[in-house]
Amino acid sequence: IKHLRSAADLDAATATLILDTAAEMAALSGREVKKLPALRGRTVVNLFYEDSTRTRISFEAAAKRLSADVINFSAKGSSVSKGESLKDTALTLQAMGADAVVIRHSASGAPHRLANWVDGSVVNAGDGTHEHPTQALLDAYTMRSRLGRLDGLKVAIVGDVLHSRVARSNVLLLTTLGAQVTLVGPPTLIPLDVAAALSEKTQVSYDLDAVLPDSDVVMMLRVQTERMQDSYFPSAREYSRRYGLDMLRMRKLPEHAIVMHPGPMNRGMEIAPEVADSPRSTIVEQVANGVSVRMAVLYLLLGGK
Ligand code: CP
Repeated sequence: IKHLRSAADLDAATATLILDTAAEMAALSGREVKKLPALRGRTVVNLFYEDSTRTRISFEAAAKRLSADVINFSAKGSSVSKGESLKDTALTLQAMGADAVVIRHSASGAPHRLANWVDGSVVNAGDGTHEHPTQALLDAYTMRSRLGRLDGLKVAIVGDVLHSRVARSNVLLLTTLGAQVTLVGPPTLIPLDVAAALSEKTQVSYDLDAVLPDSDVVMMLRVQTERMQDSYFPSAREYSRRYGLDMLRMRKLPEHAIVMHPGPMNRGMEIAPEVADSPRSTIVEQVANGVSVRMAVLYLLLGGK
């Protein structure tokens, strides 16, 4: 594939190739080889119109570990503030010879538009409430490395599904790879039409306590309070009481089950601090795996040697 705009771009064989390549990257980076020459002479542009900590830093680290030249573009402080359009910004990057453009944008579909204007590969680093495919890949990588498989794995994705690009990409990728996904949350944040649009293969539950004992993975989503103006949201306390993962609830999970969160977290709202910091939590591991997965994505898209 040339671009990674959606988790739907990936069939099972391609997704598995990315995960296997990421495992090789992790093994090489973990040994004495800190930097690989695979993308020497290639240019990767990180084009971030929305704030990010994990994704921006890990794409930068991934490109540098593959010896690519990296240009970091942040909309703040650029000519975007003077009204420059995405198209004109894209043409400027094109003139600078970008081999890959990694884009985060508040508008759903921005990576698809960008792919019409640049010759290089486009990687979606999160677009509006639409998708975040590399997050889904690093989540799948983490599940596979912790639990040994994805096929048949029971994954509960919990919380603000309505606004979550992470949930959307995870549903697409995990069902492609054979996992069974259950979306859990209040009815206002997980309407049935949204669930059906995500995938016909997913189940829906409004009862977290009923789902936990039969889950291998519980993935807590950030409550996106900044996007709540268009949806009914119970008080933070009521939400936490019904859908927050605290120590009492975590004990309902099977012994082997893991707790995930893409970050950033609202500690004390969707996840209790003791749960986030517990040995079952893979939150820090997910960030570390993000670098290997993004190395694999850049390597495979750019035909690295
Ligand atoms: N998970 C994630 O996308 O985090 P950032 O917004 O910090 O990149």
